[in-house]
Amino acid sequence: QTVSDLGDLRGKRVLVRSDLNVPLDGKKITDDGRVRASVPTIKRLADAGARVLVTAHLGRPDGVPNPDYSLEPVAERLGELLGTPVLFAGDTVGAEAHRISAALQDGQVAVLQNVRYNEGETSKDDAVRGAFADELAALADVFVSDGFGVVHRKQASVYDIATRLPAAVGELVEAEVTVLKRLTESPERPYTVVLGGSKVSDKLGVIDNLLGKADNLLVGGGMVFTFLKAQGHEVGKSLLEDDQLDIARGYIEQAEAQGVRLVLPTDVVVAPEFADAGATTVAADAIPSDQLGLDIGPDSAAAFAEIIRGSKTVFWNGPMGVFEMASFAEGTRSVAQALTEVDGLSVVGGGDSAAAVRQLGFDDDQFGHISTGGGASLEYLEGKTLPGLDILEDSTDQNGNA
Ligand code: 3PG
Repeated sequence: QTVSDLGDLRGKRVLVRSDLNVPLDGKKITDDGRVRASVPTIKRLADAGARVLVTAHLGRPDGVPNPDYSLEPVAERLGELLGTPVLFAGDTVGAEAHRISAALQDGQVAVLQNVRYNEGETSKDDAVRGAFADELAALADVFVSDGFGVVHRKQASVYDIATRLPAAVGELVEAEVTVLKRLTESPERPYTVVLGGSKVSDKLGVIDNLLGKADNLLVGGGMVFTFLKAQGHEVGKSLLEDDQLDIARGYIEQAEAQGVRLVLPTDVVVAPEFADAGATTVAADAIPSDQLGLDIGPDSAAAFAEIIRGSKTVFWNGPMGVFEMASFAEGTRSVAQALTEVDGLSVVGGGDSAAAVRQLGFDDDQFGHISTGGGASLEYLEGKTLPGLDILEDSTDQNGNA
């Protein structure tokens, strides 16, 4: 069920799980996309007179309080975006959280300290996680799941909590699922998937699943060198996953058998070291032994862009190169630019790709949708069951509200 199904929320304490896992440089947020994406649900609840407690994680502090992972700067940013001060509890389920929960006025918002300061949050032991979920539940009357980026995690504040309080999905989760459903159920064709990032092993599930569905699969980023090597080319000092060579070879054969166009770069930008110096462009089948590939080359970028622009549906996950360095940013920039020109649905999936497009100067509204979930959007496309969504469906069924 959604927030509208929760009835009158005035005076109710609503625990919202958001994904506020933003990149930080010290205490400075370098990309506030996830905070902005969390605002509509929080604002809606506050406007409805709810007493809003936001719970979220930052990084992976592994169950130990660590000031480097404090959500305090994020709470401040949330307050700026909401245009109203946001309270901050220095603990998640301790005395301060209880004091704030009890003192909240209708329409007020508070952020609880990083939920991953508590080992119960991520524990693999159901009982330990459940006990922590009980502590979280004691703070509120209702639960709203709005952290799309974390719905693939079976964690206390995402999964177990939904069985302890009346629960609903927030606007962000609803919007993300609606878009991803369009990709998995009825993509308008041609449907092109662009995959980058460093590892083939991170993308196995999604490639497996999409080979039967997409018309074009464009591969760039560090993972491409494993594919090039699988085709029999030397890749010099480039990133290589030897243990994935057979798998990459299998994908190349499978794509051919299923009539999917698997497109690899024909040229690459190389350099002698992992540094922004000495970049040259070489043919993808002639990478010198003392060089490493750090971006797709200009011919490949143009070819990728043409296929993308000619598509009706495009999903992109993973940068094409080391876009943080100017010499290796052009492949990612070309792909991003082409996505903005798609006459249809263009979806940027993933924390890295989202950060890349913003860092390269694009605006969110130039794309059909920028997903806040990296792992979550990939797992959704893989057809996997996402625990944070699954548990809400289950609890809905149990209430007879399917
Ligand atoms: C993400 O950054 O993809 C989400 O916030 C989930 O974070 P996690 O991979 O540490 O669970």
